[in-house]
Amino acid sequence: MICQLISIFIGLLLSAASGDSHCATNGVPIVRNISELDQDSYGRPGLSHITIAGSIMHGFKEVEVWLQTFAPGAHTPIHRHSCEEIFVVMKGSGTLYLASNSHKKYPGNPQEFPVFANSTFHVPVNDAHQVWNTNGHEDLQLLVIISRPPVKVFIYDDWNVPHTAAKLKFPYYWDERCYQTSPTKDEL
Ligand SMILES: *[C@@H]1O[C@H](CO)[C@@H](O)[C@H](O)[C@H]1NC(C)=O
Ligand SMILES: *[C@@H]1O[C@H](CO)[C@@H](O)[C@H](O)[C@H]1NC(C)=O
Repeated sequence: MICQLISIFIGLLLSAASGDSHCATNGVPIVRNISELDQDSYGRPGLSHITIAGSIMHGFKEVEVWLQTFAPGAHTPIHRHSCEEIFVVMKGSGTLYLASNSHKKYPGNPQEFPVFANSTFHVPVNDAHQVWNTNGHEDLQLLVIISRPPVKVFIYDDWNVPHTAAKLKFPYYWDERCYQTSPTKDEL
């Protein structure tokens, strides 16, 4: 009986420890094997997300890096954020929809940009955008770099939603588990 209790207790300790290592804000190993980092869909169909270097998850201050894989047909929501964002297409192809109309009341019809393996694209600060894997046959894999983390994302149900009615999503899906209190960083 006591042995059973002890082994349950040790099991609980181990699971708590593995939870902590996911949110490693004090000290990230210099070299990490991407194949061994946590990947998850965070409830978004067709997405695999790995936070390679995170603000809330790892304590990085100036940039954040993600590796995201979108199954055919998978896509981001229409959204904007007040940071620079740069993408490198590692595999596959897709479409960037970009509405450079942050001065108007709502995004309006987006421009379409085909993106392809070994291409790079960026999204200007605050422009509403959406990335789709529009290739029916292959995964689209992107390395994503953002500035000014943690990112505050405003989400639009469609391109005609007024900027003022876009919904704030913070913390973002992959940060929810590690987010405890407001970061002390000043708002930029
Ligand atoms: C990285 O992790 C994968 C999956 O665990 C493993 O197969 C591979 O050997 C690792 N690479 C190195 C260099 O350790
Ligand atoms: C991407 O482009 C660079 C520069 O031309 C080239 O060196 C590299 O081999 C390309 N990578 C792939 C996967 O095509």
